[in-house]
Amino acid sequence: MNNQPIGIFDSGIGGLSILGEIKSTLPNENLIYIGDTAYLPYGTKSKKIITERAHKICNYLIGQQCKSIVVACNTATSAAIHELRINFSVPIIGIEPAIKPATQSTKSRIIGILATQATLEGDKLSTLKQKFGQDITILHESCLGLVEEIELSNQQSQTLKNLVEIYVRPLIEQGADTLVLGCSHYPLIRTLIQKCAGDDVIILDPSLSVAQELKRQLDTKKLLRESNSGTTNCSQTGDSKTFEIFIEKSKLKYGSSLLTI
Ligand code: DGL
Repeated sequence: MNNQPIGIFDSGIGGLSILGEIKSTLPNENLIYIGDTAYLPYGTKSKKIITERAHKICNYLIGQQCKSIVVACNTATSAAIHELRINFSVPIIGIEPAIKPATQSTKSRIIGILATQATLEGDKLSTLKQKFGQDITILHESCLGLVEEIELSNQQSQTLKNLVEIYVRPLIEQGADTLVLGCSHYPLIRTLIQKCAGDDVIILDPSLSVAQELKRQLDTKKLLRESNSGTTNCSQTGDSKTFEIFIEKSKLKYGSSLLTI
C-alpha cells in the first residue's frame, strides 16, 4: 500500500498552498490533486451540496487507490469531514482555522478570522471558538467574492486589492494583531494581506501543520513511501483556463479538465 498515491482536493487552486507543503514534507509521495472547479466556490453553497461533492471526490480518489486523502479546504472540512471519516477507512486529514495558535500569539487579545461564509457559519468554528477563544475577542470577515478573484490569479488586479482592503482593514482598525487565514485560497495572496494589515500583524496559515499531521498519520500506520522521486498530477472537474495556467506556472503536471465526478 505504501506506493499508492495520496489524494488532495479543494474547490480550485486554494489547496495548492497545502500541496506545496506536502511536497516539501513528503517528497517521496505520489500526489493526485483535484480542483473541483465545476462547483467553485464552495463557500456560498449549502452544507448538503459541499458534503455531496466531498463524498464524490473521495470516492473517485479511493478508486485511484489513494492510501490517504487530504481535504485541502476549510469549507469542505467544516461541512463534511465527520461524514467522510465515517464512510472511508483511509486516513482523512482536514484543515481548520488556526485559532489556538492565534490565541497564543495575540497581545491585543483581539484576533481576526478571514474565511468563507460556510466556514464561519459551521459548527467546527463555533467549537474551536468555545474551546480556545473564551477570553479573547474574535472578529471575522466572510470574504465574499475573494475566492473567485484569487482563482483569476492576477495579484495585480485592482479588484483583488480592493477586496483585501475591504475585508482586512476593518479587522486591523478594530485592534486585531493576529489574522487567521481560514481558507486555503488566502495563503496565495498572503503578501497582499500582509501589506494591507501592516508588518506588525501576525498572519497564521495552518498549511504546514496539515502536511506534518499527514506525515505523522502515515508514519504511525507504516504507510510512508520509501522510494524517492514522488510525482504530482493535477486535474479539475471544470474547464477553468486560469486553473490550468496556474498549475503549469507552478511547474506541476496537468492531467485533464472536465474530470467527471
Ligand atoms: N479553499 C476553500 C477553503 O479553504 C474553499 C473556498 C471556496 O471555494 O469558497 O475554504
